[in-house]
Amino acid sequence: MNIPILHNGIANKIENLLSQMTLEEKVGQMTLIDASVVTVGEEQKADNPIDQAKLEEAIVNRHVGAILNTPYTPHNKAQSVETWRKIISSIQKTSGKSRLKIPVLYGIDAIHGATYIKNAVLFPQAINMAATFNPELSTREGEITAREIRTAGLQWNFYPVMDIGRQPLWPRLWETYGEDVHLAAVLGTAYIKGHQGDDFSAPDKASTCLKHYVGYSFPINGKDRTPAWIGERMLREYFLPEFEVGVKAGSPTVMVNSGEVDGIPGHANYHYLTTILRGELDFQGFTVSDWEDIKRLYTRDKLAATPREAVKIAVMAGVDMSMVPFDFSFYDLLIDLVKSGEVPISRIDEAVSRILTVKYQAGLFEAKPHSFYEESPVQLAEAAETNRQAARESIVLAKNANHILPLKKSARILVTGPTANLLSVMNGGWTITWQGDDESLYPKDKLTVLEALQQKSTGKVTYVGGKYFDEKINVQKAVEEAKNHDIILLCLGEKPYTETIGNINSLALDQAQINLAQAMIATQKPVILLMLGGRPRIISEIAEQSAGVILGFLPGMEGGGAIADILYGYYNPNGKLPISYPRHTNGITPYDYKPIESFELNTYNPLYPFGHGLSYTTFQTSGLKVEKDKITRGENINIAVNVKNTGSFKGQETVLLYLNDVAASVSRPNKQLKAFKKVDLDPGQDENLSFTLTPHDLSFIGVDLKRIVEPGEFKVMVGKETVNFSVTR
Ligand code: BGC
Repeated sequence: MNIPILHNGIANKIENLLSQMTLEEKVGQMTLIDASVVTVGEEQKADNPIDQAKLEEAIVNRHVGAILNTPYTPHNKAQSVETWRKIISSIQKTSGKSRLKIPVLYGIDAIHGATYIKNAVLFPQAINMAATFNPELSTREGEITAREIRTAGLQWNFYPVMDIGRQPLWPRLWETYGEDVHLAAVLGTAYIKGHQGDDFSAPDKASTCLKHYVGYSFPINGKDRTPAWIGERMLREYFLPEFEVGVKAGSPTVMVNSGEVDGIPGHANYHYLTTILRGELDFQGFTVSDWEDIKRLYTRDKLAATPREAVKIAVMAGVDMSMVPFDFSFYDLLIDLVKSGEVPISRIDEAVSRILTVKYQAGLFEAKPHSFYEESPVQLAEAAETNRQAARESIVLAKNANHILPLKKSARILVTGPTANLLSVMNGGWTITWQGDDESLYPKDKLTVLEALQQKSTGKVTYVGGKYFDEKINVQKAVEEAKNHDIILLCLGEKPYTETIGNINSLALDQAQINLAQAMIATQKPVILLMLGGRPRIISEIAEQSAGVILGFLPGMEGGGAIADILYGYYNPNGKLPISYPRHTNGITPYDYKPIESFELNTYNPLYPFGHGLSYTTFQTSGLKVEKDKITRGENINIAVNVKNTGSFKGQETVLLYLNDVAASVSRPNKQLKAFKKVDLDPGQDENLSFTLTPHDLSFIGVDLKRIVEPGEFKVMVGKETVNFSVTR
């Protein structure tokens, strides 16, 4: 049995507890149920949604160890802090009535802030956090989210998403930190650091969950929960490293990939879940299934002949906890499998000891029933300011022909398009509700793009649009109105979505938006195109004919103000693209393409490349130098470069350092981001930056699937400069 190695005496406590547990009590700990199993059906019936009889059935009779989600499925939505406290108090009091009084772990999707707590700070989504290239903001987001969920008594967050976004059709692209391995690793671990601190039992910290292990984000057809074809070398090179650093950063739980890779569903993959995750990554925490996914080995994947066999396959592959979530079938079937000798009790003991360890580490065994973190007004104000800053830094100015931006405050602006006057289009899925699409539940004090412009403008701001995303816009009226305005702000994009509900067949924009755009361009008035939404939808022709292009993605609750600040020049934009923005629906080559992808007729030709983002000032990097032009294998190498603000506004710039292994035994990307630094410079000011690359930065997954550094030539690239060094044996 592989009981986690622990310093602070937890191991003895676990062993002692385990020795007192019946099989039923053990399997109960491995069971994660949805809140709807223990709550009243309809919302209006109660201010504490708990149904005590159902709760006792789950916790006292079925020994359930974990609960997730908001109540009232299928209409789950954010609850007030007070309601959450009642729910959590009832649950912990009831666990106190069970024979061994093992506390329940409550899990929640608090992505971009505390999604399911009313009035929580809701940050830019991950794709935007990546565009900030600012890990400090990611740490602050983690800190604030943990604090807010602890205020409500919640202690386990199904976040961060450590999948990388290399398939733009995928409806969860925006839940990732973009297409680059290094950027995602830096931002994801920065988030974990803020969320967990050194000890996630602290009153304002909570445990994270790395998801969705592994290869979930790369479905070959772009649809959610469909097969990915990833060979082991590419898996280890692109998809595994984020989980590796997440485990090292101390995340104690890992959620399993709901799809399949290389023909094996995530929940049946012993090689990934046990050989690699335990054997190589040395993960000591517990794994949790995704929603209903053990059952799906039978109902969907046809990997198991019965639901019972599905449970056996998943548990033996290495799934420690099942997000069942609506019934006790997993519990019944697993007990039976152990009794019949098909699943050894040692495997159960292993899973349960991991789960109990995390509960101990989270301080749940010490928690008093009413230990809720109390927020102070100062912290709330600070959190709001951090959110505003994150939104500003997350917006990408992609085009600014003839310095059309910033606008004069007195400019007469016609605002039109389906994303101009909605908060939901700036927040996306997992906002107040799962799909984030119920605009009526959004806070009344937050500003849409239109409202923020109206607040900041001293000129005329006219709006021609619909009340909802799909409401038909009166194009003729917009054309008429354009005549009386200096400029058109054309707000296009996507409505909110997540998971399979967000599947699409093409990255093309819908015809109604294209028609509106063409009509606006035909007016000959300068058009500023603002795109909001979770994926890069194809805008090449519209962008070509627009004077300015702003890529806002999903900047969160403060997005309206941030966009208006950038439009008027109250804030100098500095966001950079964390993905390659495609020019054509099928032109989805990432920036770190292989030589074969730009050979002969093949090209990397996105509309905007990874790392692209303009400012109202200009920057120049120069003097790129390597400390030594030769190092031996195993040595670090130091690199220096100067960056200067050569324009006339104060601004922030992210300096990106790329590396290329000139010739290697496995084909290497033309370049890979290895380091970045963000600086804040006054006009004329410059700064010398230094970077250190480690042997890991020079390594790749070799022919035998092991990470190696090969001697030879390496090329460092920063801005327009390149410099070479070589590695000797
Ligand atoms: C999603 C996960 C999420 C879980 C719990 C699933 O459908 O794939 O990302 O954490 O639901 O809500």
